[in-house]
Order: sequence, then C-alpha cells, then structure tokens
Amino acid sequence: MNIVIIGSGYVGTTAAALFSVSGHNVVAIDLDPKKVSLINSGKAPFYEDGLDKILAAGIEKGALKATSEYEGAIKSADVVFSCVGTPDNPDGSSNLAYVIGAAEEASKYLKDGAIFVQKSTVPVGTGRKIMKLLPSSVPYVSNPEFLRESTAVYDTLMFDRIVAGGEDQEANRSILHLHQTVEDHFEDISRISQISYTPGHTGSYLSTSLESAELIKVTSNAFLALKISFANSIAQLCDAAGANIEEVMSIVGEDQRIGKAFFKAGRGYGGGCFPKDVSGLISSARSFNVDMPIMSAASSVNDYMPHYIINRIKEKFDGDLHNENIAILGLAFKSETSDTRRSPAIKIANLLVEEGANIIAYDPQANEEAKATLSESVTVAEKREDALKDATIVIIATDWSEFKVASDWTPQAHNLKLVADAVNCLDVTEVSQLDTGYVGVGRGQIDA
Ligand SMILES: NC(=O)c1ccc[n+]([C@@H]2O[C@H](COP(=O)([O-])OP(=O)(O)OC[C@H]3O[C@@H](n4cnc5c(N)ncnc54)[C@H](O)[C@@H]3O)[C@@H](O)[C@H]2O)c1
Repeated sequence: MNIVIIGSGYVGTTAAALFSVSGHNVVAIDLDPKKVSLINSGKAPFYEDGLDKILAAGIEKGALKATSEYEGAIKSADVVFSCVGTPDNPDGSSNLAYVIGAAEEASKYLKDGAIFVQKSTVPVGTGRKIMKLLPSSVPYVSNPEFLRESTAVYDTLMFDRIVAGGEDQEANRSILHLHQTVEDHFEDISRISQISYTPGHTGSYLSTSLESAELIKVTSNAFLALKISFANSIAQLCDAAGANIEEVMSIVGEDQRIGKAFFKAGRGYGGGCFPKDVSGLISSARSFNVDMPIMSAASSVNDYMPHYIINRIKEKFDGDLHNENIAILGLAFKSETSDTRRSPAIKIANLLVEEGANIIAYDPQANEEAKATLSESVTVAEKREDALKDATIVIIATDWSEFKVASDWTPQAHNLKLVADAVNCLDVTEVSQLDTGYVGVGRGQIDA
C-alpha cells in the first residue's frame, strides 16, 4: 500500500519505520524541516530503542522518505495516518489545531476511496468533526495508538490490542489488516532492530464504533494515571504509618482482580500523554455535562508529589535547603527516553531553585531537551561525576539503570549527606547499608 504518515513524532516515526519494512511505500510528512532531514538520513528525531535501525533499513530499501510537502504524497496515498500532536490548552482541554490543520491540508488532495486514519489521541466526538472536513468518498477510522515511549518498537509488535473504530466496516478491516502485515514481518523487524521479542505473542484486532475507539484510548491512559496516583496516596500513608509501599502494593496486586502493574509510587507521572490525556478527559466529559472528580483527584495527587518529596528532604535539613548543593540524577520523564515533556524531575529541580538550593542536574539522554524547561539557575552537567562532586543531597529523579546501584555512584559524591530516591529505584538491602540518610516514597520503614 502507499501510506502517508502525517506527523513525525514518537507515534508517526515509529509507524512510518515499521510499515516501511513490512512491504509498504511510506511517505512521512512533517512541517519541521529538521525532522524531515533527520528521517531522510535514517535517524529518528529522538532517542528510541531500535528505531534508528528500522528507519535506516526503510530508507535504504527506498520504501521510506520524509517531506514537508503534502500534495504529491497525499495524491497517491491509499491510507493517510494523522499522528500530529494534541497538546493541552491552558484550560486543560485538548488543542486540536494540529489535528484539524493536518486533516484540512490532506483533504485537498485525498483520492476517492483513500482511508483517513486518526492515530492521534483526541477527545471523544472529534472524529465526527474531522469527517466533515474530508471528502465524502473518504472513510474515517479512529486507530488509537497504545505504544509507550522507550519501548515504542517493542510495544508495536507485542501489542495487546489494535483498535479500528468507524462507520465503514470495510475500512476498519483494511486498517486492522494493514497492522497485521507488520506482525507478519515480526522476525525481520526483530532482526533489524536487534530487540528480542517473545515468540508466539497474540494480541487482539478489534473493530469498534468510532466513539468507542476514541474513548478506549483516553480511558486506558486515565486508568493508568489513576493507578499511579492511588499508589502515591497510599505511599504517603505508608510513610506516616511506617509501612512499605512495595510490600503493600505487590501483595495487594496478587489479587487477580487488581493486578500489580502501574502501582509504582514515586514522584508521579509526566510525559507528553498522561497529564494532557487526564485533563483532556476531564474537559471533554464536562462538554457532555459529565463530571470526573476522580480524575481531578488523580491529577491533584500527581501535581503534589514533587512537593511531597521536597518536603521530606526538608524535614531532614531543619526545613532549610538554602545554599545546599543538590544533584538531580535524571531529567527525562522516564528512563530510556530523551523526552522531558511535563517531567516531574524538572519540576523538582525548578522548585528547589525557589528554595535557594544550588542545583546541578544530569541525564544520560535528556540534557539538551531539558534545557528548554529547566530554570536558568540549574547547571546541567555533561557527566554524572560532575553533578555528584560537591553534592550534599542526591535526588534520583528518573530510574535510569545507571542510577539504580548506589555503590556505582556514591563514591563520586564526597560530601553526601542524603540520598532522596524519588523513583524508589534503589534496592532495599543496599539502602539499609548506605552510610548517608535516605528518603524514598512510601518506603517508611527503610528511611535511614
Ligand atoms: N508519545 C507517545 O508515547 C504516544 C503514545 C500514544 C499516543 N500518542 C498520541 O499520538 C499523538 C502524537 O504524539 P507524539 O508524541 O508522536 O507527538 P510529537 O509532538 O512527538 O509529534 C507530533 C509531530 O507532528 C508534527 N506536526 C504538527 N502539525 C503538523 C501538520 N499539520 N503537518 C505535518 N506535521 C505536523 C510536529 O512537527 C511533530 O513533529 C498525540 O495525540 C499523542 O497523544 C502519543
């Protein structure tokens, strides 16, 4: 098939790369010329495990190219995927300007019978509005994306479900079948990306109504956000009562009705999806006169967690962090990505600047991206040892593997008084042997 992918971010670039090595001709369209030239040189515009290798293979085969021009690419496209960003507006609602802009521009050139597919996460009801912008001969399919940054390629192959929702059943089936072609190239992709996958995996291919497909995506993210904030609420009680959040949640999760996933306490969720998907759900529900106090609560707990961690550190320093040298290890919103959008690590750094502390931060991949939102008073260290050298307090703010063994890096911190583990990534046994103070999140009993 001739496929066009509009938007070369995490979702669009991953889809473009994978379709291009699964027997299709793919054109990736992005308005950002830097992304276009990076992709044409076989490189992803961000760090994502295995993706560069697949992109390079697609380009080498002549099955993938990137451009900023719509006309030529869209005119010959059988399927057009919209994968542009849907950030939030200041009031929390979804900003659909990019989604509408992409659909309007594509609609000028779409051929009869082409399928227009929405992979971007949009509020329920958006599809009906986009359909009005498209020629009547072009079916619209909502095909929400469930990949996680840091494991985007893996998740696309080891999917739990692929959903195609829309009124035209044949179009839904075509989109599901198109994804099946990627699964059919499972072994090739595994070899090219050098990521190992579990053989024999079976995910579901599901056709739904348009509105259900739209709501499945935001509901999934909202529920995961809810689980994190729930764990963080219980973690605060653990600290107060001397219980341990990991013991509590792992045994709570033994109950099959509950499950263990996403019960990890820490400095809260961030990134380009959860915060804006939660606020988008609250806002879109409101437009249907439905209140979502449960999601507002999840969001408030999440906003509070960086403050909670700082308060716990302050307790150990008589409430005063003025002029304290603090190293922040990790700036990305999670490990294995360079994405710093809404990163709680950056929020912690900036809040500590307001406390008058001297902040030096280091991330193995995200230093450059972080600079856009970090306070100018934060020094960014090129090397971990430079961040640690004069630190009295070290905050682990992202669970990169290079921070998980304290004995790997504590010798580089000569004045260390306190380790604050904002992501609970240090091993409990090692923590109990630290000759400095320790605070975690909800690990009440093991705080030194
Ligand atoms: N990042 C994730 O992990 C993830 C996972 C699932 C779903 N999603 C959803 O997928 C969508 C895309 O997310 P992302 O993280 O890939 O976004 P992103 O911000 O990384 O990339 C979006 C890209 O779209 C481009 N763009 C904007 N308007 C355009 C236009 N009119 N024509 C061409 N290009 C245009 C931008 O230049 C940018 O490169 C969002 O709705 C997001 O919620 C993201």
